[in-house]
Amino acid sequence: MRKHIVAGNWKMNKTFEQADDLLNEISEKMEAVTLGRDTQVIVCPPFPYLEMTSDYSDESYFAAGAQNVSDQEEGAYTGEVSAAMLQSMDMEYCIVGHSERRAYYHETDEIVARKVNQLLKHEIRPIVCCGEVLEEREANRQFDVVKEQITNGLFHLSAEEFGQVVIAYEPVWAIGTGKTATPEQAQEMHAFIRSLVAEKYGKEVADDTSILYGGSCKPSNAKELFANPDVDGGLIGGASLKADDFLSIAMSF
Ligand code: 13P
Repeated sequence: MRKHIVAGNWKMNKTFEQADDLLNEISEKMEAVTLGRDTQVIVCPPFPYLEMTSDYSDESYFAAGAQNVSDQEEGAYTGEVSAAMLQSMDMEYCIVGHSERRAYYHETDEIVARKVNQLLKHEIRPIVCCGEVLEEREANRQFDVVKEQITNGLFHLSAEEFGQVVIAYEPVWAIGTGKTATPEQAQEMHAFIRSLVAEKYGKEVADDTSILYGGSCKPSNAKELFANPDVDGGLIGGASLKADDFLSIAMSF
């Protein structure tokens, strides 16, 4: 059965000391809260804090993840970080294809597919993001856009490989805007994504796939979003930077 997942994407926030404080607070507070047995909490800080996050995660109940990875194996790629490096630092998850990377760093579905391949080769579970921009939703093209992103980014995988993938639906118009998709809009898209997976890999694989919602998810709306049958958790930006808000979201199932 699929897991409930709440993953914090810190994006480009926090200094080293602030990151240490937040990880410490999350670890301590997690001791005191009761999460559902099938709930996985993941923290994805910037690269320089991965080792520290991995150390905290060894002693705590959350898993560590990265926000990005190179699509290349190794070598002369200045500034890049490989999947082998992430594996050697015990990363369990890595976000791929976030809309900010697609928009600002020209990450295409083909690059996303190569990054997913690198991660799977190194036994790291990809959290693959998809989602439409506002103009696409206004033109009622959201389903076509998401179908293309999922098909091009993921459907080259075998069913066994696909079983390692987590999908995050993040409507771009809801990211950092305070404007959340309604529970109905989220459920509609998540059910659509699951139907695509079922068509390609069969019902069993689709039923086991965790599909997360992202975009202005916060303690006040997490419960109604997560109550939907096809919403298996959240990819959290701003609200993951405060331990209380993040854990309150993790307790919203
Ligand atoms: P916000 O929660 O800040 O809207 O960000 C969502 C997101 O992009 C997570 O990856």
